Amino acid sequence: MSGTTFYEDRVIRQFAVMTVVWGIVGMVVGVLIAAQLYWPALNFDVEWLSYGRLRPLHTNAVIFAFGGCGIFATSYYIVQRTCHAPLFAPKLAAFTFWGWQAVIVLAAITLPLGMTQGKEYAELEWPIDLLITLVWVAYGVVYFGTIVKRRVRHIYVANWFFAAFIITIAILHVFNSLAIPASPWKSYSVYPGAVDAMVQWWYGHNAVGFFLTAAFLGMMYYFIPKQAERPVYSYRLSVVHFWALISIYMWAGPHHLQYTALPDWAQSLGMVFSLILLAPSWGGMINGIMTLSGAWHKLRTDPVIKFMIVSLSFYGMSTFEGPMMSIKTVNSLSHYTDWTIGHVHSGALGWVAMITVGCIYSLLPRLLALPGMYSNRLIEQHFWVHTIGVVLYIASMWIAGLTQGLMWRATNPDGTLTYTFVESLNATYPYYLGRLVGGVLVVVGMLIMAWNVWKTFQMARDARPIPVAAPAHA
Ligand code: HEM
Ligand code: HEM
Repeated sequence: MSGTTFYEDRVIRQFAVMTVVWGIVGMVVGVLIAAQLYWPALNFDVEWLSYGRLRPLHTNAVIFAFGGCGIFATSYYIVQRTCHAPLFAPKLAAFTFWGWQAVIVLAAITLPLGMTQGKEYAELEWPIDLLITLVWVAYGVVYFGTIVKRRVRHIYVANWFFAAFIITIAILHVFNSLAIPASPWKSYSVYPGAVDAMVQWWYGHNAVGFFLTAAFLGMMYYFIPKQAERPVYSYRLSVVHFWALISIYMWAGPHHLQYTALPDWAQSLGMVFSLILLAPSWGGMINGIMTLSGAWHKLRTDPVIKFMIVSLSFYGMSTFEGPMMSIKTVNSLSHYTDWTIGHVHSGALGWVAMITVGCIYSLLPRLLALPGMYSNRLIEQHFWVHTIGVVLYIASMWIAGLTQGLMWRATNPDGTLTYTFVESLNATYPYYLGRLVGGVLVVVGMLIMAWNVWKTFQMARDARPIPVAAPAHA
């Protein structure tokens, strides 16, 4: 804790800066793999740069490095302000920062080297998994410790979302990563065949539900009311939203395994729970958007609010699309196609990235005791470049995905396939360029953000009073 402030803010500043840094790194890798899908020669015949190795680097960097740092920064900020208490065990909080950065750097080294458990979003080998567990336990101790020593009776709803996220990710990580080490950098899952697949997608889907959703809803419930200067539209709805969401998400995982060796009843269960999931998801979205009622004019003047409200619109869109894709007949068309990639990025770039960016823009001036960011005009530019980029990305993938799905299933009257696979590739090729352009725009937006953040830190430094040396005789 610094001498003048009551709260532990250093670790928040560190995580906030790294959110922007890892956001740029992860998205640049995303642009590179998008470019490789258009120009395959871009792997330069170097195995470390091959698509199969860079793709998990992209997913790990954007989800765990960019998203993760954003979650750490905002959750540490929110828990202190809503509990009126400084962080519990500040040294442990510092450990979570350095430990998490170490995990990210290790991932950035081992994944291009081809060291992987081969489980999507859980690729990292067992020594790194152990480090993740240590950091996560420390995070839990800091977070729950702060809640325990709170000076207000009530636990604000944002904390409920973060708390559920911390506990659930711990359970998912431990059980999905259970493996028998064969060497320091190779291990084998303890689960066999279809069980392994089910555990993996129980993990994978709840990683979406908790890492990519619950934690960001926690951010949303704190920063939208703050930025809009209005109370949450319905506090009661936020509590119903919380319980409904966390109890339903757990059961939807099998929708990733439709038409596989998984028992049919489990696939149907996944589908039904996915359809039910639409209700709490939209409840949350409506609650967030309606928080602006009476202050809609701010949408015209405050680009930070634009980021937040548009992110919720993407959240609503992807949580409508997801349940539809989980319907078996729809999934038989969408699975294996770029439609899934479009869905992923409307959630990831539309919802996750935009709410994170909006919250960091809202958090930084408050953290640095400034009236605002260095430039609102740059935030406005970031907003438009990002939004246009995301729309270009997901529209390209929707068209490509539907084209692929329809071409693959088309048959001639004699039962033979109408199109060869290569014909479907040719048909979707132009849309890969559309996605690439969209991705480049998103990265340009992130670079604008980096500049704005840099200048804001400079402003904060210049605004700090210069210490005056005390006279020698005093
Ligand atoms: C500039 C921005 C981005 C670009 C250009 C980009 C590009 C890509 C590409 C080309 C793929 C591989 C698609 C395929 O295999 O067919 C991919 C996969 C993925 N990306 Fe991104 N991405 C970006 C941002 C993000 C962000 C911010 C997130 C998350 C917060 C994200 C999450 C994912 C995930 C989860 C996958 C795996 C999808 C799956 O397996 O179905 N991406 N991305
Ligand atoms: C009600 C909410 C949602 C439901 C029911 C849902 C459902 C689905 C379905 C059915 C798939 C396709 C599975 C397949 O055919 O392989 C899918 C894929 C995916 N969704 Fe969602 N989705 C929801 C929301 C979201 C959100 C908000 C995000 C991101 C923030 C997201 C991220 C993903 C990812 C990353 C995948 C690809 C997984 C993979 O194959 O690697 N989903 N989702």
